[in-house]
Amino acid sequence: MPNPPGLHFNAFVWPHGYHESAWRVVDDDPRSVLGLPYYADIARTAERGLMDAVFLADNLAIAEYRVQHLPQTQFDPISVLSALAGVTEHIGLIGTGSTTYSTPWDLARRFATLDHLSGGRAGWNIVTTITPLAAAAFGKQKHLAHADRYARAGEFVEAAISVWDSWDDDAVVGDRSRGVWADRSRVHTPRFHGKYHYLEGILPFPRSPQGRPVLVQAGQSPAGQALSARFAEMVFTGPATKKAAIDFRAALHARAAAGGRLPQHIPVLPALMVTLGSTETEARRQAQHLEDLASDEFRWQNALYTAGLDPDGYDPDAPLRAELWKDTEAPSSRAEQLYAAARRQRRAPLRQIARDITGGAGQLHFIGTPEQLADFVIDWQDDGAADGFTIMGSTLPNELTAFVGQVVPLLQKRGRYRRAYTGSTLRDHLSLPRPDRP
Ligand SMILES: Cc1cc2nc3c(=O)[nH]c(=O)nc-3n(C[C@H](O)[C@H](O)[C@H](O)COP(=O)(O)O)c2cc1C
Repeated sequence: MPNPPGLHFNAFVWPHGYHESAWRVVDDDPRSVLGLPYYADIARTAERGLMDAVFLADNLAIAEYRVQHLPQTQFDPISVLSALAGVTEHIGLIGTGSTTYSTPWDLARRFATLDHLSGGRAGWNIVTTITPLAAAAFGKQKHLAHADRYARAGEFVEAAISVWDSWDDDAVVGDRSRGVWADRSRVHTPRFHGKYHYLEGILPFPRSPQGRPVLVQAGQSPAGQALSARFAEMVFTGPATKKAAIDFRAALHARAAAGGRLPQHIPVLPALMVTLGSTETEARRQAQHLEDLASDEFRWQNALYTAGLDPDGYDPDAPLRAELWKDTEAPSSRAEQLYAAARRQRRAPLRQIARDITGGAGQLHFIGTPEQLADFVIDWQDDGAADGFTIMGSTLPNELTAFVGQVVPLLQKRGRYRRAYTGSTLRDHLSLPRPDRP
């Protein structure tokens, strides 16, 4: 039997860890997450573990209830990643960018800047932005509906690609004697006149080392899957079960193949929160400690917020209004999670329904020893559920340090994971081709 392809890991960076109680159990100063050393330490740890990338999410507006319950550090991801480019050498740098609240030329330029400064390590997590609060922050009266956001997203990515591809790879000649820095015949003004986006104008610097940053997509809805099948070169998912992960990955890969793409060029990395211990009992105790500190008040508000609803308009001690979940289609996959929980427990108050829902990016929480996690990862890969994982330490940097120090060596010993970086770009780590200009 041929060797299975190597696993891929992405480190999700979050203040003090992904569990909402993390900041209350770690020893670090609660304000340390506002300084570069916090991020630099995590990125270097992930790089020591030869991980493919670190990932910084972006939520463009935060509801005020959140500031009370957990650290708020939603910096501009590209600024943070640019700083991390200077303190790391190999690891990929993936950041979220919204197709609803930015413009293609500007965003293409910002990610291409990161790609240059990092020597080809940039990745763009394409999102359409769930929270309606972003609208007002960006000067809009109204948040667009799900279908409109995705229609704009597809065109946005095409437009961004036209900007990245506006220079030939060999356009810079640097001929001092003739006084020609770049050959003008090798730049091509994009003229993108779409339904939603209009742009003209070359990238204001040459094509970046990867040609185009790696395109990542995390939408789970049918529209999100369609966007992934078209463009994504890495997909984040948040499945609740292995079966759901297998079905999602198979459907995505079939759809991409039908469009002429190779499934191996679309690694799928489910989000996995991780709590490790030297024994399973110890890991369970730590996970329980985090849960014991979790706030009911935060959970119900967060369940609404991540579903795109305003918590201020709801009573936690009453059931969720039936007109929301009865016959209407949920506006997003997150909303569907909440509505499904409400359908399961029709009379239960919102407060109780919300206990069923993990408000964050993922729904999986691994609790156990490093050996058990290595077995889990290999089992999911062998069953076609994943090509690796987006690792979300329930506390940071602790869980990431344990993952790198204890799980990575086990996977290496079992021949499933690289022993060194073999290339210099994020595309190299992911075995993705460098796209030619059309
Ligand atoms: C690992 C992971 C990371 C995500 N990161 C972001 C993010 O940074 N910003 C954001 O607005 N949505 C993020 N999402 C949410 C998705 O992009 C998407 O908006 C959400 O699933 C709702 O869209 P859908 O209805 O197509 O699924 C993330 C999801 C996952 C699984």
